[in-house]
Amino acid sequence: MVRSKVIAIDGPAAAGKSTIAQKVAQMLGYVYIDTGAMYRAVTLKALNQNIDVEDEETIAKMLQDTSIRLTNDKKVFLDGEDVTDAIRQPIVSQNVSAVSAHKFVRDELKRRQIEYAKTDNVVMDGRDIGTNVLPDADYKIFMTASVEVRAQRRYDENLRRNIPCDLETLKQEIQTRDELDSTRKHSPLIKAEDAIVVDTSDLTIDEVIDAIINIVKGGEK
Ligand code: DC
Repeated sequence: MVRSKVIAIDGPAAAGKSTIAQKVAQMLGYVYIDTGAMYRAVTLKALNQNIDVEDEETIAKMLQDTSIRLTNDKKVFLDGEDVTDAIRQPIVSQNVSAVSAHKFVRDELKRRQIEYAKTDNVVMDGRDIGTNVLPDADYKIFMTASVEVRAQRRYDENLRRNIPCDLETLKQEIQTRDELDSTRKHSPLIKAEDAIVVDTSDLTIDEVIDAIINIVKGGEK
């Protein structure tokens, strides 16, 4: 049996992972999986149900009865409802690190992520794909950029989505999220030893895509 191929793209908040991962997936004909969107969907549902984001037990119960569907054109469906824009709201960004720190949430979403990779060639982006979810990934990229550049990009993206925001506040939020995601107990954000670092601070989207496609083509197995 031919095993499906996996490109894992990890890195801090707003480094451009999802834009790049989606385009790379398109070019290679792979399925794109945005694991951050899965954590965001769980967070949105908890907030909508007025569940305390620190209440792991209640969130765990809720998750057992939750369907999350990702489409290849970056749409996200939560229990059948399109939440593509709703999961990008600041209130979700501010609470997603707390929800994603819970072990049960991580174990359950990891199980679902592994299922995706069993059937299709995937480009999967997140924080712990190369270290924890799919440590045998064919290619591991650690994508990063300076916090200033990341804040500016998120600011521009929010404006495009009509989400009001302030640049300095965004920068603070990104820093806080990186800190929480990197220091949590279960599968923190960390570069896999064998990941290739791509710093996108001074690169255009096309240059980053080229860099990744070169890595993949260069190491074609
Ligand atoms: O990629 P993003 O900013 O949409 O991710 C939102 C949050 O989800 C991020 O702050 C931490 C969490 N996350 C995670 O813990 N593990 C992943 N594989 C992906 C995201």
